[in-house]
Amino acid sequence: MTSLQIGPHTVQPPVVLAPMAGITNAPFRTLCREFAEGDGWGSGGRPPGDRSSGGKGLFVSEMITTRALVERNEKTMQLIHFDASERPRSIQLYGVDPATVGKAVRMIVEEDLADHIDLNFGCPVPKVTRKGGGSALPYKRPLLRAILREAVSGAGDLPVTIKMRKGIDDDHLTYLDAGRIAVEEGVTAVALHGRTTSQHYGGTADWDAIARLKEHVPEIPVLGNGDIWSAGDAVRMMRETGCDGVVVGRGCLGRPWLFGDLVAAFEGTGAPKAPALREVAAVMVRHATLLGEWLGDEARGVIDFRKHVAWYLKGFAVGSEMRKRLAISSSLAELEEGLHELDLDQPWPAGADGPRGRTSGNNRVVLPDGWLRDPYDCAGVGEDAELDTSGG
Ligand SMILES: Cc1cc2nc3c(=O)[nH]c(=O)nc-3n(C[C@H](O)[C@H](O)[C@H](O)COP(=O)(O)O)c2cc1C
Repeated sequence: MTSLQIGPHTVQPPVVLAPMAGITNAPFRTLCREFAEGDGWGSGGRPPGDRSSGGKGLFVSEMITTRALVERNEKTMQLIHFDASERPRSIQLYGVDPATVGKAVRMIVEEDLADHIDLNFGCPVPKVTRKGGGSALPYKRPLLRAILREAVSGAGDLPVTIKMRKGIDDDHLTYLDAGRIAVEEGVTAVALHGRTTSQHYGGTADWDAIARLKEHVPEIPVLGNGDIWSAGDAVRMMRETGCDGVVVGRGCLGRPWLFGDLVAAFEGTGAPKAPALREVAAVMVRHATLLGEWLGDEARGVIDFRKHVAWYLKGFAVGSEMRKRLAISSSLAELEEGLHELDLDQPWPAGADGPRGRTSGNNRVVLPDGWLRDPYDCAGVGEDAELDTSGG
């Protein structure tokens, strides 16, 4: 069976949960891991046994900003929490200053906080790109190189990977240069989201670009990302692009069992049966419960869960009043009570298999003045490009 090698870690099957800020925290990763292992629909207990030697797939944390990490920001220290059964522990960092990135990476190594570090160069949010951060950064080749050099040298034996977009727009593509720089600086693998910054989440991901990157950097694994909505899409991306693994993001929103489907597709076992609303409701309650345990407060868990409600219910016949009611639940009892009022025998709706989550595009790219004038002039990247980020 195909596997993916990320330094010392064998990822089999070669499927990676995309880092998603505010989503891929330890509870969500636990759910996805349970489905990957085939125990997701079980009794609702914790994953059985000790998984310290690693399980199926790879599950990356939400993005952690390097400055907040080195400053030991309280919320950040919570975000880097991994379940005891989670191996390898994959952490995604975001930073714009080589020295701070180096410091954060050394802290991770010295304090044994993770087993794999991914660096985020894909964020399209205007308040980040305005300062030259996120997906604007790879345009400045020397800065990208300096960050990667610091990260790889600080990481010692830990593998460092990067995740990026194609470029700023079609006239300012950066991914091939960035891939080459990554190889030269000792990065272990590169993941490409086949969109530019200006596309945001609109249009369709360009899988041909993934194939081109694979040809351009044959020395290291290339992971493809963008618009995988089903296990069949993942297999097709591997076949059509020649990539070494896939990264799946929005397809898992309100659908952590996609990981079970992905594993089955790669292992060649039959596709698991799509869940009826009764099973979906049980996962919703479990998700909210895990969030409460993680946050140390049931109500906070249920409140954090609110953003997931519409994704879980996508396509099911649930009236708008009830959707609203469920999305303002403040306790597990309230959430469960609402769910029990639904027609739980509804089968999985065919329409729920397509795109979900953000799908809008055509955002104007905001960059620092004169940013595109010279890819080699790195003046003007403000450290505050790190603050207030919300993912890639
Ligand atoms: C809510 C949300 C948060 C995200 N946060 C991050 C992040 O923290 N780091 C990152 O590299 N990408 C982030 N992304 C981008 C995804 O990792 C992924 O590249 C993108 O959604 C395209 O993949 P998909 O089509 O499978 O969703 C985020 C995307 C979404 C929708």
